[in-house]
Amino acid sequence: MKKQNIELKGKTILVTGAAGFIGSNLVRILYEMVEDIQIIGIDNMNDYYDITLKESRLEGLKKYSSFVFIKGNIADKEMVHSVFQKYRPRIVVNLAAQAGVRYSIQNPDAYIESNIIGFFNILEACRHSYDTEGAGVEHLVYASSSSIYGANDKIPYSVEDKTDSPVSLYAATKKSNELMAYAYSKLYGIPATGLRFFTVYGPAGRPDMAYFGFTNKLLKGETIQIFNYGNCKRDFTYIDDIVNGVIRVMRKAPERDKKEIRHKVYNIGNHEPVNLLEFVEILQQELVFSGVLPENYDFEAHKELVPMQPGDVETTYADVSELIEDFDFKPNTSIRKGLRAFAEWYRSFYQVEEKRL
Ligand SMILES: NC(=O)c1ccc[n+]([C@@H]2O[C@H](COP(=O)([O-])OP(=O)(O)OC[C@H]3O[C@@H](n4cnc5c(N)ncnc54)[C@H](O)[C@@H]3O)[C@@H](O)[C@H]2O)c1
Repeated sequence: MKKQNIELKGKTILVTGAAGFIGSNLVRILYEMVEDIQIIGIDNMNDYYDITLKESRLEGLKKYSSFVFIKGNIADKEMVHSVFQKYRPRIVVNLAAQAGVRYSIQNPDAYIESNIIGFFNILEACRHSYDTEGAGVEHLVYASSSSIYGANDKIPYSVEDKTDSPVSLYAATKKSNELMAYAYSKLYGIPATGLRFFTVYGPAGRPDMAYFGFTNKLLKGETIQIFNYGNCKRDFTYIDDIVNGVIRVMRKAPERDKKEIRHKVYNIGNHEPVNLLEFVEILQQELVFSGVLPENYDFEAHKELVPMQPGDVETTYADVSELIEDFDFKPNTSIRKGLRAFAEWYRSFYQVEEKRL
């Protein structure tokens, strides 16, 4: 295991995308785990999905008295620079991005603005953080994505695999982030780690993701479509496991490689692909168990098993051997436990019983 080289205690940490799914949980778990920290959160609160979800996540962070929230767009260079000047963060975690593969067909501009210009501003601010002696960024951790593997058919996906054939603009922006961070690391010595996340799920997760969409549809009495007759395997990673992995990574900035560059990229996922049909069956059981759906719900009548969509891949999962080796990362939340937490949160957030009465 790599030696920890960054002490988080006593530090100021900047988290962009702090009202987002992963960002808000990262802020919460950091405050629970590490003493004497100050976290500055930036988020533009865009309406890509239900904004009340973002507001409720932020509401939950109000109890941490040193947490400062700034509503702002990372594509706004002046705002980013003034935050760096004022708070001098030593660790930066960039999670703000326009996520989602399909939406990049509808609204490509959002991806260029947040993922390219926004990330460039973060890199520039990290670069200039060294202008004042002794106050520079010790580690930049940034979100990449499993989607950069495109239509690769070799599984599991390994960081050694080629990633130069993205099949969406979203994937292309995430790959660009890795290249930009590499160049800035080389040019200005910014220690940086890119994390390729694989499907993250859990309470207050993203409504654009399948498990959340299935739940909405089943509750409305609509039919859900399960591709490749359910015979697809995916790596589902529970939010707390992901965040614990991110925190381990934050504590260890990459050492210089052979070319003297302090930049690394890792896959971060469960490494235990689950059959989609099995995942949906556990989701159904947990939706009934938590009272989101009644016991006599006719799932078979609301489920359609359909063929594979063109371009879809049967099995995708992460090779996380480097992450295990360097950070001793081991997700340990079972799908049942994770989906139970999601279903319980869903019932209470959407006040399902009251609506049914
Ligand atoms: N959740 C996953 O399964 C997954 C998988 C792969 C990659 N990722 C990446 O991880 C990161 C976090 O994802 P998430 O699931 O928490 O998504 P999310 O959409 O819930 O969070 C992102 C947050 O960033 C904010 N944001 C977007 N553009 C911004 C901008 N220009 N300025 C300031 N804030 C902005 C949004 O309002 C949102 O709250 C993203 O970079 C995403 O691409 C997530």
